[in-house]
Amino acid sequence: MGEAKLRAVGVAGVACVLALALLSPAFAAPPTPLAPSAMPAASAGSVTGNTGPSLQVLHWWTSAGERKAVGVLINKLAEQNIQWRDFAIPGGAGIGAGKVLKSMVLAGHAPEVTQLNGVIFGEWADLGLLLELDTVATQGNWQKLLFPTAWSLLNNHGHVVAAPLGIHRINNLYYNIAVFNRLGLRPPRSWDEFEQVAAKLKQAGVTPLAQSSESWQVATLFETLVLAESGPAYYRELFVDLSPRAFADARLLHALKRLRNLKQVMQLPVRERAWTEIAHQLADGEAGMFIMGDWAKGDFNAWGLSADQQFGCAAVPGTADYHLYSIDTLAMFADDYSHQPAQEVLAQIAMSPAVQSDYNKFKGAIPVWRSPDTSKMDSCSLNSWRTFSKGAAFQAPSLVHRMATDETTKDAIVAELRRFFVDDQISEAEVQRKLASIARALSRTGKVE
Ligand code: BGC
Repeated sequence: MGEAKLRAVGVAGVACVLALALLSPAFAAPPTPLAPSAMPAASAGSVTGNTGPSLQVLHWWTSAGERKAVGVLINKLAEQNIQWRDFAIPGGAGIGAGKVLKSMVLAGHAPEVTQLNGVIFGEWADLGLLLELDTVATQGNWQKLLFPTAWSLLNNHGHVVAAPLGIHRINNLYYNIAVFNRLGLRPPRSWDEFEQVAAKLKQAGVTPLAQSSESWQVATLFETLVLAESGPAYYRELFVDLSPRAFADARLLHALKRLRNLKQVMQLPVRERAWTEIAHQLADGEAGMFIMGDWAKGDFNAWGLSADQQFGCAAVPGTADYHLYSIDTLAMFADDYSHQPAQEVLAQIAMSPAVQSDYNKFKGAIPVWRSPDTSKMDSCSLNSWRTFSKGAAFQAPSLVHRMATDETTKDAIVAELRRFFVDDQISEAEVQRKLASIARALSRTGKVE
């Protein structure tokens, strides 16, 4: 069982979270699932004429690169005569999808399959909702094939409760190569170099750093700044252990100051935009740099851009040795077990070499296999794979993307960070105090320690 899951909320906590989801404004108007026309192109053909079993799959993969990746899964499943019934909820980082999923489960209509990442497995599995995939995992030799971090994430009290797809790296700094070449710039390796590059970009009328004020995007940037402070050990003390000492530490204050200072190299006011729009600013040369998870690379590729040609990927300054990760997985709801055979086929497909290679190529991620075929990886993926392969001491579990702690704690921290980011009247010391009290309150209540 993953270390973060030690903090998973108990049954009462889950019921409370579910009830809150129902009462929240976001529940009143849940995001609309994508119309069939917006589904991956590959799905149309595979669905037609299919008479076999089908699986409803809830996910939030709706961008160009994400849809191509989903297309790989749909086609592989169709080859086994199983239909993928697409239930895509738009919204980066699954903000909307998480709420819809909770409401469906509460109403007794859980989908057969869901993209359900991280610590939350423990919560659903403890309620007996998830199908155990132990037989598939044993037959497929998953424990031996997977990176230990991925294997431990899938396990809940000794049972495998999800099928892994790929590993995303979050601490990427993308840069526009044409803009950098025109201005004679090199990707910054330190924050001093970053400031020099940003100043030159600004002088040339280019926005130095593309950024949205959407809460999860602000927090995604912030978690890379925390990692840059002093690596994964401190990062884990903060976001996995929720240690009061770590929240009082000068390094947190410093990361908050950096977040605020970075606004000076963004386009002001920083607007609330989807990550795909922000990625376009980098691709179009409107902005010179962009810090984002490598699902953005999946979209750059889908738009016809290639690594080391139109865009480059460096690490966020100070984080080159580290891998801030998010692992995508599919969990299956057991219900009355009538879908078990089809669900097990999908789990097998997720781990197959073809899907590991093709799906992850489109998705921008790397395979969950510790020794994958690296021959077709671009330099960004190779770098990500090499860094992740260095082991747990170099890996940091993403807070925002559900690898570090439970949903309630994550949502509270993310909301506070956004408030601080958009409101310059809130001081760094003030938000540090608020974050510390969130961590104190939530690590005391509702959780199984
Ligand atoms: C997920 C990715 C997804 C990204 C953007 C992350 O939380 O792990 O699969 O592409 O959000 O929505």
